[in-house]
Amino acid sequence: MLDIQELENREEGSRSDLSGGLDVATIRQDFPILEELVNGKKVAYLDNGASSLRPEPMINAMLEYYHKYNANIHRGVYRWSEDATRHYERAHVKVAKFINAESAKEVIFTRNTSESLNLIAYSWGRANIQAGDEIVSTVMEHHSNLVPWQVLAAERGAKLRYFNITSEGKLDLSQIDELINSKTKLVTLTHMSNVLGTINPVEEIVKRAHAVGAVVVVDGAQSVPHVAVDVQALGCDFLAFSGHKMCGPTGIGVLWGKKAILEAMPPFLTGGDMIRDVTLEKSTWNDLPWKFEAGTPSIAEGIGLGAAVDYLQNLGMDKVRAHEIELTRYALAQIREVPDIIIYGPRKAEEKGGIVSFNLADIHPHDLATILDNEGVAVRAGHHCCQPLIEILDTPATTRASFYIYNTPAEVDQLVEALYKARRIFKLS
Ligand code: ALA
Repeated sequence: MLDIQELENREEGSRSDLSGGLDVATIRQDFPILEELVNGKKVAYLDNGASSLRPEPMINAMLEYYHKYNANIHRGVYRWSEDATRHYERAHVKVAKFINAESAKEVIFTRNTSESLNLIAYSWGRANIQAGDEIVSTVMEHHSNLVPWQVLAAERGAKLRYFNITSEGKLDLSQIDELINSKTKLVTLTHMSNVLGTINPVEEIVKRAHAVGAVVVVDGAQSVPHVAVDVQALGCDFLAFSGHKMCGPTGIGVLWGKKAILEAMPPFLTGGDMIRDVTLEKSTWNDLPWKFEAGTPSIAEGIGLGAAVDYLQNLGMDKVRAHEIELTRYALAQIREVPDIIIYGPRKAEEKGGIVSFNLADIHPHDLATILDNEGVAVRAGHHCCQPLIEILDTPATTRASFYIYNTPAEVDQLVEALYKARRIFKLS
C-alpha cells in the first residue's frame, strides 16, 4: 500500500521509487550494452522511440536458431526445417496473444511498421478507395502513416483530411462528426505520437468511423512496446507495429488485421510460399497469414520477436507502463525546472507515453544533442519523421528523450545535468 508521503513525492516528481514495480536493476543485467563506455562514460540511452536495446534472452533465441536448427521454413521435411517452422509459427501465436488477437491467422510478419502500412495501402487501398472517397488522418502522423495514403489518394483521386491538435498536443476532436462522414472510407491514426507522446482516443474514433462504415488503421509503433494493447478492446480493423522498438530485432514488423478483411484482400507481394497452386496461367493463394508473407521471411528475426514478446510478457505490460509513467513524471518535473526550456505535448505523464520533446532557448537540437552525447546521453534530435507536425509546432526541430524498461531516474538526472552544461557552453547563465 502507498503511504501519503510516497503519493506526494510522486506528485512532485520525486525520484524515490520510480520503478512502477519493475525490477530495473535486474532488467539492466539483461542488457550488457548498458555497461559499455562511450567517451569514458556509461550511456544513458534515451532514444527508445527510435529503437530499443535488446535483452540477452532475445539475442540468444536468434543465436539458437542459427546454432541449432538453421533451415528454411514450410519447405523441408527434415528435423531442422520442422523445428524452424514450429518456432517461426509459434512466434505468430505469441504476438497474437500479446495483442489479444482472435487468431494467429490475423498476424502477418512484415519488415517493419512502414511495410505493414504500405501493405494495407497497396492491397486494401487499391481494392477499396475510389475517386471522391475521403481518407482521414491526423497532423501528428509519422511519415510512414502519411506518405502511403498521399500516394494512394493521388492515384485514386481521393481526398485526405486531417484532425488538428490542441495547444497541448492532443487531438482536437471538436470536428470529429464533420471530418468522419459518409464519404470517409478509411481513418488512420497513430496510437501514440512519437514526438509528443500523446495517447490518442482510438476507441472513440473507431466508434465514429464504424458508424459511417469506414475502416480504421492504427499505427502502434510507439504504443505496442509500452502499453498493453488489446485489438479487440480498441475495436480497430488493422494495427501495425515494429519489432525493433520492443526489444526485438530489426527487419521484423507486424500487421494485424481482422480475418474477414484480410481474407477479402488481394495479396500484396507475390511469389514463393504465398501460393496454394500455380499453373502457367494462374495461381491461387495460401491461407492466412502466409498469403501475405511472400518469399523466405525473416526467420531468425521472427523467432527473436517471439522471444521479445515473452520477455515483455514476463515483466508484465502494466508494470512497464507504470514504470514509464513514474519516470516520465520525474523527467517532466526536472526538465521543466531548466530555464528557457519549452516542452511539447501533454503536461501530465498519465496522458502520454514515455516521450519528452523539448527545445532549450534557441540552441539548435542537433547542437544540443551533440553536447548531450559528450555527456553520455543519447537522444534524438530533428523532425522525428514528422515534418508536418514540426511545422505546426513552429520550430525547425526538437530534442527528444524517450524511455524504456531499463531507464532510471539517475539517467534523467544525467540528462538534466547535461542540459545545464549546454546552458553554460552557450553562455545562457
Ligand atoms: N519512428 C522512429 C522515431 O520516432 C524512427 O525515432
